[in-house]
Amino acid sequence: MTVPPPTQTWDADRYARNAGFVAGLGSAVLALLAPRPGERILDLACGDGTLTEKLVAAGAVVVGVDAGPDMVAAARRRGLDARVMSAERLTFDGEFDAVFSNAALHWMKQPDLVIAKVRRALRPGGRFVGELGGHGNTAAVLTALIAVLARRGVDGVARSPWYFPTPGEYRERLEAAGFAVDSIELVPRPTPLPTGMAGWLETFTDSFFKPFASEERRKALDEVVDLLRPTLCDSRGNWTADYVRLRFAARLP
Ligand code: BEZ
Repeated sequence: MTVPPPTQTWDADRYARNAGFVAGLGSAVLALLAPRPGERILDLACGDGTLTEKLVAAGAVVVGVDAGPDMVAAARRRGLDARVMSAERLTFDGEFDAVFSNAALHWMKQPDLVIAKVRRALRPGGRFVGELGGHGNTAAVLTALIAVLARRGVDGVARSPWYFPTPGEYRERLEAAGFAVDSIELVPRPTPLPTGMAGWLETFTDSFFKPFASEERRKALDEVVDLLRPTLCDSRGNWTADYVRLRFAARLP
């Protein structure tokens, strides 16, 4: 199976500035994982390692992987065992008691391949626990992106790097791969954006704006912000993104 090259550039400093809040919102999925001392855990798409550190603090033996070299370098600076590896190309075989993933699986548009690699990485009885953007996630933002690109004759749906499944669809994929699903639910979570919508777009929407030179890109980004202001910005200028999480826990027999 071919894996398309990533369309998003991951810059650890830019991420920390505009999206450092993401890991802080991971406490519910960490609680669902309930890491135990001595367990071997794979943190899939560990980013800069903020949550990986929490797994280590719980006494687990943790390997973090991420497709972004800059993120892996940031995780290593925390003293973590972090490796550059994409989820689609995981090489682990029967090594982990659990695979954990926060705010990353929605960037992976070949979910069956990823789930199969996770399955292979786990020991019998191993858990797969994660949280990703679910159906309806950032719907207003995505609609605005599609509209602004359409004004320029570009297909924003085709350029979207995101996969936001329903619980029913993701459950089916997990079960087809041999997992038993203990829980799976959509959780609406309006999320304040500390650096506003412009900072969020600058951090996460590279693939939508690849066709444009820098001046046109700036104009298009401003148009997206203007479209979203009436619904996602309050009267004091505070922005909130329309996040919807899909949180699940599954296990192998
Ligand atoms: C999310 O965490 O839901 C998300 C982050 C960046 C882009 C799209 C969605």
